[in-house]
Amino acid sequence: MASIVLKRTNQKMPVVGFGLWKVTKSTCADTVYAAIKSGYRLFDGAGDYGNEKEAGEGVRRALSEGIVKREELFITSKLWNTFHAKEHVNKIAKKQLDLWGLDHFDLFLIHFPIALQYVDPSHRYPPEWWGDDGKTVTLANVPMQETWTCMEELVDQGVAKNIGISNCSGSIICDIFRYARIEPQVLQVEIHPYLTQEPLLKFAKTLGIAVTAYSSFGPQSYLELGMDKGVTALFEHDAITSAASKVGKTTAQVLLRWAIQRGMAVIPKSNSPDRLVQNLQSEDFELSEDDMKAISALNINLRLNDPAEIDPRMAIFA
Ligand SMILES: NC(=O)c1ccc[n+]([C@@H]2O[C@H](COP(=O)([O-])OP(=O)(O)OC[C@H]3O[C@@H](n4cnc5c(N)ncnc54)[C@H](OP(=O)(O)O)[C@@H]3O)[C@@H](O)[C@H]2O)c1
Repeated sequence: MASIVLKRTNQKMPVVGFGLWKVTKSTCADTVYAAIKSGYRLFDGAGDYGNEKEAGEGVRRALSEGIVKREELFITSKLWNTFHAKEHVNKIAKKQLDLWGLDHFDLFLIHFPIALQYVDPSHRYPPEWWGDDGKTVTLANVPMQETWTCMEELVDQGVAKNIGISNCSGSIICDIFRYARIEPQVLQVEIHPYLTQEPLLKFAKTLGIAVTAYSSFGPQSYLELGMDKGVTALFEHDAITSAASKVGKTTAQVLLRWAIQRGMAVIPKSNSPDRLVQNLQSEDFELSEDDMKAISALNINLRLNDPAEIDPRMAIFA
């Protein structure tokens, strides 16, 4: 499978991975196991997704049956916002590793550049955005430098081979590069034809940071949350259906290929065994330059995952 070579470690990050957000807990182990059997090697998890234990079960089943070796897999997880303070980063990363049943992550990301008040995992896990009332967001005064230093220590301790950031924009990335002893190797952000993010991509390229696009299908993932903002489904857009008919692929495969052809990795999520296989087959064809341009022209800077909509004090993309 095609991959992106990460700086510092030269580790290969597969260009197509499997996203674990909203993968149903009760079927997650079977889904991950089936995904490995189908050829997936990268799994994109997070403490916040609440299914790390189940994802780990799927991984361990495949390992114990000899379907893959641990070194052939690339397991990503993320640090949630309530664990940014120096006394919490290492402890929670190790708890997450225990949930997966693994001894290291291949990549560990800061999920959002937002620090929230600590919630003890024995009280509530995953803690999500709000307090016990399910309504109040309580920020914490933890500077990014404190959290990044702890991320670097995770590398020193062998907890994570590679470290990176997610949902970060230019100015916070500039700041991290001022003090980083170990530079972020990966930036994971929302990118799809309604939010093409050219300047951010260019900036990441300049810095040598690999980019992973999330929510490649745009509003599709947000429909079930009532957060799709009423826009036309990308799957039905003329520019995409027309490109799909030219290459004899599905619209989902075209959306993934568009991102890959722009130099990014993708991590589509699917609870369906058929769609999961289909999504993996997005590398063996080329979109024409004209179709690439027509798809990119759909950009309307539409961001579907914006914490400012939960609380205006979290306007990280303002
Ligand atoms: N860092 C972050 O803050 C962040 C935020 C969001 C997402 N992510 C990561 O990125 C991953 C992917 O993003 P996402 O989950 O938002 O959305 P996505 O992969 O763009 O879309 C998932 C949606 O598309 C459907 N789908 C999947 N394959 C399809 C196909 N071939 N044809 C038609 N429909 C298809 C899925 O339904 P079915 O399941 O029914 O197939 C689901 O409704 C996440 O799982 C997560 O790992 C990270």
